[in-house]
Amino acid sequence: MKTNNTDFLVTKEYRFFEEFCEACKRDKYIGICFGPPGVGKTLSARHYSKWNEIEAIDPFSESSKYWPELADRKTVFYTAPVSNTPKKIDDNLNDGFFKLRAAVYYSNKFKENEMGEENSCELVIVDEADRLTLSSLEHLRDRYDQGNFGLIVIGMPGIEKKMSRYPQFYSRVGFSHPYNPLSEEEMEFVLQHHWEKLGLSLSLEDFTDKEAMASVIRVTAGNFRLVNRLFSQIQRIMKVNTLSSITK
Ligand SMILES: Nc1ncnc2c1ncn2[C@@H]1O[C@H](COP(=O)(O)OP(=O)(O)OP(=O)(O)O)[C@@H](O)[C@H]1O
Ligand SMILES: [Mg+2]
Repeated sequence: MKTNNTDFLVTKEYRFFEEFCEACKRDKYIGICFGPPGVGKTLSARHYSKWNEIEAIDPFSESSKYWPELADRKTVFYTAPVSNTPKKIDDNLNDGFFKLRAAVYYSNKFKENEMGEENSCELVIVDEADRLTLSSLEHLRDRYDQGNFGLIVIGMPGIEKKMSRYPQFYSRVGFSHPYNPLSEEEMEFVLQHHWEKLGLSLSLEDFTDKEAMASVIRVTAGNFRLVNRLFSQIQRIMKVNTLSSITK
């Protein structure tokens, strides 16, 4: 997974997403989350489920790191592969459940308990759900019906309409959640962070900074991916030209 080594910023949209996940988990509903590319859906889901840490655990290695913070994890994160069949979905989901069990086990490593067989998962988040074929979706619904977990599918805008064409799946949907780009005020918070990462300080009283910030907000339209890419370019241009400030 490409993370570009970015620090995760807890934004208002992330807070909404977190609340949405909690609701789907609590009520064991199906939830649909949709938003344009690059706004942070995948990163938010990974952060919520702590999946980067869970994935890093090697269940077969006794020397695996001890992760006490994973003790209360109840979420499996799964990226639907480009080519998917019900069998593949099944195997991958079982894999996810196993990884979660292993994570909970390793979080209690020094308590000497056995790694249980029981599935502790209460929520499954399926990313890139636009890729799911009808039979894979049907299969997912069947797993959801048999299991005791909530299910969230993440996709591009329009996925909610696509799902509405499958009445059985759609009738189980409890919540629908649009993931929006950053608002202008929040962009100020994010840009502050980026300025600092370049060793600069952003002052709203300084006209040059304010002008540069307004340009960044305009060209990126609150899209996280565009902001990060733009700042990689800014960093490079500053280095090549030995500049010490960001201008419009
Ligand atoms: N909360 C955040 N804090 C810091 N960076 C973020 C955050 N959210 C997203 N980003 C940045 O934006 C990039 C794109 O995010 P992400 O992959 O989650 O978007 P997405 O909505 O899943 O897009 P797509 O629909 O194309 O899959 C990330 O690689 C990361 O650099
Ligand atoms: Mg994504």
